[in-house]
Amino acid sequence: MKIFITRAIPEAGLDLLRASGHDIVISGKDGVLTKGELIAALKAHNPDAVVCLLTDKIDADVFAAASNAKIFANYAVGFDNIDLKVAAEKGITITNTPGVLTDSVAEHAVALIFAVTKRIAESDRFTRAGKYVGWAPMLLLGSDLKGKTLGILGGGRIGSRVLEIMGKGVGMRCLYYDIKRSEELEKATGAEFRASIEEVLREADVVSIHVPLLDSTRHLMNAERFAMMKKSAYLINTSRGQVIDEAALVTALRNGIIRGAALDVYENEPALADGLAELDNVVLTPHTASATDETRSAMSEIAAKNIIAFLKGETPPNVVKSA
Ligand code: GLV
Ligand code: GLV
Repeated sequence: MKIFITRAIPEAGLDLLRASGHDIVISGKDGVLTKGELIAALKAHNPDAVVCLLTDKIDADVFAAASNAKIFANYAVGFDNIDLKVAAEKGITITNTPGVLTDSVAEHAVALIFAVTKRIAESDRFTRAGKYVGWAPMLLLGSDLKGKTLGILGGGRIGSRVLEIMGKGVGMRCLYYDIKRSEELEKATGAEFRASIEEVLREADVVSIHVPLLDSTRHLMNAERFAMMKKSAYLINTSRGQVIDEAALVTALRNGIIRGAALDVYENEPALADGLAELDNVVLTPHTASATDETRSAMSEIAAKNIIAFLKGETPPNVVKSA
C-alpha cells in the first residue's frame, strides 16, 4: 500500500514500512507543508496511510483530501494538531508515539531546570562576549536545588520521570498535581499529591509543566497564577506553548513576579512573544526536547509499526481518542 509522509523522518521507520512491502512517498519540500500544499499532495498521491507531524494541522479538509487513508500516524506524543472529533466521525484511526520519548523529554526538562537555575546559557553568553575579567564573589549567582521543592503539573510518564530524577538524584522535595492521584507515581517517585494547581504553585521553587494541550489546559499558567508563585521560583515548559499565556509570562519575568523560566515550546511557534528573547532570565530551546538520535529513530519506528498493524487489519498499539 502507499504511505505518504509529510516530511523526511529518520530511516528506521521507513525501513520497516518497506520491509512490509509498502510504497513510501515523502514530501519533497524541506519545510512544513502549507495546508494547500498538503491537500494537493494528498490528492495527487491518494495514499492508504499518512505519517504526519505536530507542525501539520490535520482537519476535515485534510482528511477529505486523503479519502483512502483511514489512518494518520502522528510522529509525536502530543496530538493537539489533529481534529480528533472529525477523525472519530469519519472513522479515521489516529496514533501517536508515546513511551519512546519519555526519557529524552524528561532529561531535556531536567537540563532546562539546571540551565536556568545555574544561569548556564546566560553565563555562556557572558563568557563568549569577553565580559569575564576575573573571579568575583557575586558574579552570576544562581540557585541550588537540593532540598528545594519541585512541583510538577501533570503526572503522566514524562512528569513522573522528571520527579524521579530530581527527587532521587538531586534530593529535591517533590510535589505533583494531576486531575487524578496516582499511587504508582507516588511509589516510583516519592512525590506528594496536591489536589490543586494553586497549592503546588505556592510551595514550589521550580514548577515544570507536563500536561497535554486541551481546552482545560489552555493558558493554565496566566498572570493570576504567576502571582501565586514564589518570587524566587522558576517555570519550565516542555509540553505545549499554549499552556502558558506567553505575553503574561514576559511581564512576570520582567517585573520580578518570578525569577526565571526555561521553555522548549511557544504559544505561536515558531514566533516568540514580544520581548521574550531580550530577557536574560529565560532559557529558550526550539522545541527539541525529543530531539535525540535514539528517540527520533524510535518515534519513526513506532509510527511505522502503528501503520503496519493497521494495514494488516490489527488494532495499532498507540491509538489515541479525544479526552
Ligand atoms: C513533541 O512535542 C511531541 O509531542 O512529540
Ligand atoms: C507523555 O508521554 C506523558 O504521558 O507524559
